[in-house]
Amino acid sequence: MMQIPFGDLKRQYLTIKEEIDEAISNVLARGWFIMGEELRTFEEEFAKYCNAKYGIGVGSGTEALHLSLVACGVEPGDEVITVPNTAVPTVSAISCAGARPAFVDIDPNNYSMDPSKLEDYLKKRSTTRKVKAVIPVHLYGHPADMDPILEIAQRYGLKVIEDACQAHGAEYKNQKVGSLGDAGCFSFYPSKNLGAYGDGGMIVTNDSDLAKRLSMLRNYGQENRYHHKIKGFNSRLDEIQAAILRIKLRHLDRWNKRRRQIAKIYDQGTALSEIKKPIEMGYSKHVYHLYVIRTKNQEETQQNLLDNGIETIIHYPIPIHLQEAYKDLKLKESKFPHAELHATESVSLPVYPELKDSEVQYICDAISGL
Ligand SMILES: Cc1ncc(COP(=O)(O)O)c(C=O)c1O
Repeated sequence: MMQIPFGDLKRQYLTIKEEIDEAISNVLARGWFIMGEELRTFEEEFAKYCNAKYGIGVGSGTEALHLSLVACGVEPGDEVITVPNTAVPTVSAISCAGARPAFVDIDPNNYSMDPSKLEDYLKKRSTTRKVKAVIPVHLYGHPADMDPILEIAQRYGLKVIEDACQAHGAEYKNQKVGSLGDAGCFSFYPSKNLGAYGDGGMIVTNDSDLAKRLSMLRNYGQENRYHHKIKGFNSRLDEIQAAILRIKLRHLDRWNKRRRQIAKIYDQGTALSEIKKPIEMGYSKHVYHLYVIRTKNQEETQQNLLDNGIETIIHYPIPIHLQEAYKDLKLKESKFPHAELHATESVSLPVYPELKDSEVQYICDAISGL
């Protein structure tokens, strides 16, 4: 029986060990660890990769979202709209900015924000709170349907902050995600498609004023050393992580291609099974940060796969409005039926570039035998 872990970052490290070790020792030899040339260069390289003008490296994806909200003028008491089936940090960032999260349900085909639900919510809401921003999430590496979201946001005067934390390199109508809204937020958490060896994040934007505010916000609000123009934070991407990410960025397209190949093997190898496979919408290029299937027997499927040596994870078992931390929002079960059903039916299969075809085939066989 094969043993297939859900993720294995050591496998990837071993394929690029020499380049990574050299990049880290160069930083150590230089003796400059915060806000140096590795960060400056990586910000340029990653912004260029996303087809955006500016990149601002920060401490994590959560911080990328939090600082973007603050830079976009979100203030305590404002409201920010997102989806209930995202990773909790999307909403932590809203809370960090002092804003109140509001949710709209997802499209059951792409598992991202349903633009018609966004419009409905904006039309019908009765509170006097000001909605300042909307955060569509490119969940699992599949882009949200951005054109209608951008159009609605423009009509209602909302900023659009893309949560692209799971979608490095994904495309919407041939444009890289992150460059479509006012700001695009990325996480470099180690297991992401582009992952550091620690925490890290970046905001990309085409707005020079926003970029300037963000670069001050992450560095104690300083414009120049000891000249604090605004109240800021400490949230920076360090030199060692930036050096590692510069190396890994060179491999990102190849790795994403391999993820897409693995997805294809899953699609074909489980064609006869009853599970629902992820759909790549016509407007998108999916980068399969996660390959998420749907089944009526979530627990049983996970256990059967585990009995075959295959580790899986549920992303995410409890929608945010039903989490204890957000009970103050007083949002009841059945409020967001598509997101809630998804939480009870989804199972994420292993998908990382270093998986061998034989391992993927083994997983397909296990699924087909369920
Ligand atoms: C959709 C989404 N948003 C935000 C984050 C937060 O990123 P980080 O863990 O780097 O803070 C993550 C990753 O964990 C994520 O998957």
